Parts: sequence; structure tokens; C-alpha cells
Amino acid sequence: MDITPKPKVYITREIPERGMKIIRERFDVEIWPDPMPPPKKTIIQKVKEVDALVPMATDPIDKEVMEAAPKLRIIAQLAVGYENIDIEEATRRGIYVTNTPGVLTEATADLAFALLMAIARGIVEKDKYIRRGEWKVAGHPMLFLGQQIYGATLGIVGLGRIGSAVVRRAKGFGMKVLYYNKEPRPDLEAELGAEYADLNVLLQKSDFVSLHTPLKKETYHMIGERELRLMKKTAFLINTSRGNVVDEKALCRALKEGWIAGAALDVFEREPIPVDNPLLKLDNVIVVPHIGSATYETRSRMTELVAENLIAFFEGKIPPSLVNREVLKTR
Ligand code: GLV
Repeated sequence: MDITPKPKVYITREIPERGMKIIRERFDVEIWPDPMPPPKKTIIQKVKEVDALVPMATDPIDKEVMEAAPKLRIIAQLAVGYENIDIEEATRRGIYVTNTPGVLTEATADLAFALLMAIARGIVEKDKYIRRGEWKVAGHPMLFLGQQIYGATLGIVGLGRIGSAVVRRAKGFGMKVLYYNKEPRPDLEAELGAEYADLNVLLQKSDFVSLHTPLKKETYHMIGERELRLMKKTAFLINTSRGNVVDEKALCRALKEGWIAGAALDVFEREPIPVDNPLLKLDNVIVVPHIGSATYETRSRMTELVAENLIAFFEGKIPPSLVNREVLKTR
């Protein structure tokens, strides 16, 4: 009989059962039961005794939280982005940080492409138009015109896993693809049929610009007034990365004043986006509530990966998606 106590884990939301079942078998689990995120002071109080923490990307996991958690050894985030976690502080304390890359790539790329298609053809706006009872004229050749996707140029900002998956979709739609990445990726260019372009050139030449960069100091407000003014007046911006990559105030002006044709957004500077945000007043904007990875299958795979990361760690192995590899030098 194994009498070793199970490691304690605190999970900051209810998560899909497929991963939960595995975690429950191996860990002593406590879950924050409300749909609203736990207040930071609750997290601080809950981590006091835990060996592991499973946060969401909306939970701030900073020095103060880590200080309150003397036994904490791993933060296994349920998200690919981890800008909410102070990685340096975690590494300094020998705390492993893991995320959920790979398993959400295709779902997020699907959403980016769905937004691209919806904004190009005004799907949401036209749906509302019909429901308002305004469709009075059928078959007129000058009405309801949108932008062509086939043959258009797509600019991908950030050619990582998700950016590359969007390129694969774009190729199926006969698009020409430019990409900008901090480091050019000649290894991927031939396989994907994408051409490297400086960010300014990409913005000037693309009919659709889709953002796939993580949020870091260098990417905060990477798309601001200057960049939006470089884009074509007929071009669309698609953002499924992080809201803060775009200066929302500048975007709002760009959309109002016609510097660009429209934007389709899954992410915002503040989430949930306040209903009085002026972006929501504009017809040339499509918004969805941060649902890139929100499919049943993907969310289940994400929780399984969280479980795999936790189990590997407590078995003394390197977790499959370790973010702070430098921590290996400390423990
Ligand atoms: C979602 O935004 C994620 O980072 O997984």
C-alpha cells in the first residue's frame, strides 16, 4: 500500500473532465468553483499549502503569489500564452512553469481563418441586416459586395505554430502569403510557400493581416497608429493572439476614419471587453469572446497536457511543455 501523501494541487477553474480525471487520480485536488476568476487574495491564500498550481491565462501569478507558496514546485498553466506568470521569479525560485502548446494550434488557426472569411464577406453584418428586416431587394448585382479571399495577400505576423497553421489554410484558398517573424524562418518558407517581409512591407502589401505573436515587452502595442496607417485602406486586421499586441485606441480611430476596412477580433486589451468600448459601436468590426482554443476536443486535450506535465514533474521527469528550461539548472 502506498502511503505517500498525494501532491496538493489548486486549480483556479473547473476544467474538462478528460484531464481532470487523470489529475484527480494522482493528486489531492482543490478547485475554485465559480466561473468568475478567483480574486488574487484568494489565490494567495489557497497556494499556501500546495505543491502545484493550475492557473488560467487570466490569473496573475507574480512574486506575491509565489512568496505565499513555500511548497509550490510547478505552475502548470492551462493556456499556451503565459504573460500572466512572472517566469523569471519562478525560475529564480526553482518553480517549473509549463503551458499547453501544440494541442490548440489547429483550433486557433481555424478561428483566425473563420474570422478572416467572416470579415471579408461581411457575414455578421449581413446576418444582422436580414434579422432587422432590411433585406428588401433580391438579386441586385451591386449589393452586398465583399472582398475576394482567393488570390488575396495574407500577412502573418509571427510564424510560430499557429501562424504556420493559418498559412496552410490560406494556401488552400489560393492566397499569397507574406510573413514577418522576429527571426526569419527559411526552413519553413519552402514547405509553407510563405515569403519573409519586413513588418512595414507586410503591412503595406497585405489584404489581410493576421496576428500570431505572443505578448511580450517587444510586442506590446506592436500594431499602433503608425502601423495601421501603413496598411491598405481595403485591408482587414485579424487578431487571435493577445489584445495588447494592438493599440486598441489607435485601432478604433483606424476603423472609424477608414485607414483600414475592418477588424475581426478574438482578444482585447481588457477582457471581458466593456460593453461601452467604442469598438463595439462599429459595423466594420467582428468580435468574439476569446475563443481560439474553445472546442470540446481542444480544451480536453489541453487539460490532458496539463495532467501530463504535472505527472511527469512529480515522477522526476522533464515535463513535456516546460517553458522555463533554465529552471533545470536550479533543480
Ligand atoms: C489562449 O489564449 C491561450 O493562450 O491558450
